[in-house]
Amino acid sequence: MLRRLHPDQPESFAFTPANQAWAEAQISKYPQGRQASAIIPLLWRAQEQEGWLTRPAIEHVAAMLDMAYIRALEVATFYFMFQLQPVGSVAHIQVCGTTSCMICGAEDLVKVCKEKIARRPHQLSADGKFSWEEVECLGACANAPMAQIGKDYYEDLTAERLRRLIDELAAGKVPTPGSQSGRFASEPASGATTLTGFTGEAQNGSVARAVALGDTVKRIDGTEVPITAPWRDGPGGPDASAAAVMPRPGLAEVIDETGVSFDEAPAKNAAKPEARAKDAPEPRKPEMLGKARGAADDLQAISGIGPALEKKLNALGVFHYWQIAAWTEEEVIWVDDQLNFKGRIGRDDWIVQARDLADGNEKT
Ligand code: FES
Repeated sequence: MLRRLHPDQPESFAFTPANQAWAEAQISKYPQGRQASAIIPLLWRAQEQEGWLTRPAIEHVAAMLDMAYIRALEVATFYFMFQLQPVGSVAHIQVCGTTSCMICGAEDLVKVCKEKIARRPHQLSADGKFSWEEVECLGACANAPMAQIGKDYYEDLTAERLRRLIDELAAGKVPTPGSQSGRFASEPASGATTLTGFTGEAQNGSVARAVALGDTVKRIDGTEVPITAPWRDGPGGPDASAAAVMPRPGLAEVIDETGVSFDEAPAKNAAKPEARAKDAPEPRKPEMLGKARGAADDLQAISGIGPALEKKLNALGVFHYWQIAAWTEEEVIWVDDQLNFKGRIGRDDWIVQARDLADGNEKT
């Protein structure tokens, strides 16, 4: 399936202050130079905030992680969970169309979506409240046919039940997730044949939790309990409050393969340049320019250079492919030390890329 950006895009995107703090905390989970690993949680948060993933949001996240826009776009277009077009303001309904669900009536569910929402998937209903799509197996095959609505699963659906579900959601209610035929979990539809004496809760754990949270179709609206980064702030740290700090093992107890605890890691990293000075060439500053000679090259054409790194390079006096192409090993070490994304020059082969671009060759 071809996944393209929607033709109508908003002018800009910014995380809410709470989401910005959350995003920065996510980035702090990763070692220096590996911040791009936070791409999926950040894109997901942007989608949770806006309902769908806009081009400005993708670019905003790419800039935060100092990734080339195209890299972030590749992630956003690869994963079907990212919605690249506006979704219904109340709910986006994802009907499973894979084998078990198809055999058990998924086509009838799709018909309901076409009748009640829109003729084609990813189209908004006339009132803008709903949208739908057919998705691949959601892993609830024993309770087929099913659909994911917002964060929860609605299983053992019939066309009639889905119709009523949509009406209830439109009326501002949130129907109880889980089996819609009265099954407790995934026991046979005709009744349990084992553990027949079980007289447990009225709802299984997943459903009970979903009901307790009550956020099936709720979007982020700024009223959420703030999430902190205990690995960064620590209990009693600047963002910490009794309600906000999530239970997590103390990082001081986490030891990496070198036997150094995460808490000691900064000190270990800080010692690296000295260790390197003994065995590696001395860093040497390459020739820098006060300004570009003519038009500056588009440094973002080099994979691994995003808007933030391009800015830093320009500030250092690097404007052209030929400058990067001429860096020696010692000069790479010097530039590396100036950037907050150590190791990226070698990892992404900037010099080879810059040589190709300087020679006017297509990027490989
Ligand atoms: S086939 Fe529908 S959930 Fe697996």
